[in-house]
Amino acid sequence: MLRFLAFALLVYASLANKALEQLKAELHKLTPDEAKKRFGDLKPLREAPPRQKKIEHFVVLYMENHAFDNFFGCMDLPGADGIPKSGRLIPKDPEDPSQGYVNVTCGTSYGYVCPGGPGYDTFAGKFKNSADAHAYPYGPQDDKYSHQHGADGIAIEMFSPEQLPVKKAIAENFGIFNKLYTAVPSASTPNHLFTQSATSCGIHDNIMYSECGGKTDTFPQFTIYDSLKLNGVDFAFYMNSTCGVQTAPCHGVNPHTPDAGSPIPSPDVAMAGVARHKDRFLSQELFYAAAANGTLPQFSWLMPPFQACDHPCYDVAKGERLLKDTYEALRAGPGWNNTLFFVVYDDAGGYYDQIVPPSEGVPNDEAPCHVRDQCASSFAKFDFRRLGLRTSAMLISPWVARGTVFQEPKKGPYNTSQFELTSVPATVKNLFNLSGFLTKRDAWAGSFDELLLDAPRSDAPMHLPDAPAPAKPWDPPPGGIFGRKGDDADFFDLAENDDGEDEMPLEDDDGVDDGDRRRLGEKVKLGNPPQHCGQKEKICRGPEAVSVKQRRNIKLFSRLTEKAEPNVDEMTNDEADRWLSECWEDWMALGGPIT
Ligand SMILES: *[C@@H]1O[C@H](CO)[C@@H](O)[C@H](O)[C@H]1NC(C)=O
Ligand SMILES: *[C@@H]1O[C@H](CO)[C@@H](O)[C@H](O)[C@H]1NC(C)=O
Ligand SMILES: *[C@@H]1O[C@H](CO)[C@@H](O)[C@H](O)[C@H]1NC(C)=O
Ligand SMILES: *[C@@H]1O[C@H](CO)[C@@H](O)[C@H](O)[C@H]1NC(C)=O
Ligand SMILES: *[C@@H]1O[C@H](CO)[C@@H](O)[C@H](O)[C@H]1NC(C)=O
Ligand SMILES: *[C@@H]1O[C@H](CO)[C@@H](O)[C@H](O)[C@H]1NC(C)=O
Repeated sequence: MLRFLAFALLVYASLANKALEQLKAELHKLTPDEAKKRFGDLKPLREAPPRQKKIEHFVVLYMENHAFDNFFGCMDLPGADGIPKSGRLIPKDPEDPSQGYVNVTCGTSYGYVCPGGPGYDTFAGKFKNSADAHAYPYGPQDDKYSHQHGADGIAIEMFSPEQLPVKKAIAENFGIFNKLYTAVPSASTPNHLFTQSATSCGIHDNIMYSECGGKTDTFPQFTIYDSLKLNGVDFAFYMNSTCGVQTAPCHGVNPHTPDAGSPIPSPDVAMAGVARHKDRFLSQELFYAAAANGTLPQFSWLMPPFQACDHPCYDVAKGERLLKDTYEALRAGPGWNNTLFFVVYDDAGGYYDQIVPPSEGVPNDEAPCHVRDQCASSFAKFDFRRLGLRTSAMLISPWVARGTVFQEPKKGPYNTSQFELTSVPATVKNLFNLSGFLTKRDAWAGSFDELLLDAPRSDAPMHLPDAPAPAKPWDPPPGGIFGRKGDDADFFDLAENDDGEDEMPLEDDDGVDDGDRRRLGEKVKLGNPPQHCGQKEKICRGPEAVSVKQRRNIKLFSRLTEKAEPNVDEMTNDEADRWLSECWEDWMALGGPIT
């Protein structure tokens, strides 16, 4: 009987595995209509599979833009490659030390709200000038080349531990990663894609699939959510509203509110394999309720409210508060003993980090959605065989030893495996015993299950220290945070930069990262203008212009809702926000999953 059961299970598992492989391979060939037909009733292929007994709830809080050194480099953690008290010197000219050094230091030079975005190159930051950064084997890399790629100014001013009491307490009580790399040496979009689908379909920039030769605007690949669904394992995206544990929301940012500068959660929603699960888009209030109730799903994806996401130049004090609130909610809940909480930053964000990211063994991207060499950008020929800069990452659980600094994976699965953003789908696959990996990359990445203790600890603190006071109150003031006309309660003042241009203090992205700009020969003045605000981009002209991100989202949402695309050239920034807000509502109200 037992043998029969085992056999039946095996057949069942291999069926599920085969179906999964087939779906993965075929998905990218389907038109949106065909995909809708097929996935409109995406159903579990089986009941939740048997799996380990430690973790029932894996929670990921996905933050924005902070290299390891920027947050953890100054905490003096044993085993961490950090910034010494005496500073870290980088030669201004790697060939000629007589030109002097810049001094990477810890401290309070700018506080929690940066005056402008940092400008360290996330793509080629360690490369010797003119070395090949695009194809394996790559040209020479060394930290001594960092200055010529923007390691200066704001990019090398690291937080002191006193400035980050909540993260410091996390490091003391749980684990942080000394070597967790971004999946792609680049900005948000490709890294969001890799974290949730183990591929970026060949795109290497903050752009849509169609901008790189894809047939659709949306990215068609199979995601970790598709895999969870087919394997009968529950998940949710907690994406709107509150960050407060005491029922009262401490801010009011919905993903669609104009006041928040239209932070529609692209690039996440730009993945068809996220968009089709919108029945699992829940508010953060429900996250707190479910945590208190012990009824969180197996996998939770937490999108931080924009103002607390730590993207430069949002207030890092608010990111501290969000971390404290999320931790305390999980800690106080009945599910704590079986919870694994991972907090990670999607890219290095223009902040300097000292470690040269590895390339040995990193598999190239062979996902079926890959638009090989079709991107019309300087990244066109990038082969994805190296990781990006080290990023800030914390692992929190009663199953994690106190005060650990994790190094490289010990259990592979390959002798070259590293912890990186794609460790998220790898961990989900292993924890919940899903029938297959998504691509070669998550099959290669280190998995966090190897870091868990044999038995849970009972000494985790109920509370973390208070977060620093935010520079401005939480609620977005009327008129928003973008410095719109007549808005005095703004986070930032519109500053005049040296070119006399109005400087837009904050934008999620403009599709052009500073490294790219530098390679294009444009002189980037460090720390000014801010990251993601190209001097030539319209967004820098202020509130009258539609931003690149708004354009992209309008394209995306007109496709998702099958609404005619408005003429964005005739819209203001506010009008674009309003259009997006309505479109988001319409889309959420549409019945049934949609691709
Ligand atoms: C994973 O699932 C398979 C069947 O699908 C089962 O044979 C195996 O024991 C499970 N592994 C764990 C760790 O539960
Ligand atoms: C670098 O900065 C540190 C911290 O402020 C200081 O102690 C050190 O003397 C500086 N080094 C140089 C060479 O200026
Ligand atoms: C916010 O969350 C609530 C509850 O989960 C949901 O009903 C609502 O549609 C969400 N709003 C948006 C804009 O996603
Ligand atoms: C709380 O638990 C109850 C009983 O299991 C359940 O019906 C309810 O939906 C849960 N609430 C949340 C927000 O998860
Ligand atoms: C969690 O585990 C600790 C020690 O292992 C135990 O004292 C505590 O009661 C458990 N909590 C719950 C909610 O089961
Ligand atoms: C890793 O394994 C491969 C074979 O799978 C071997 O050729 C290589 O030398 C190993 N590298 C290290 C660093 O052990």
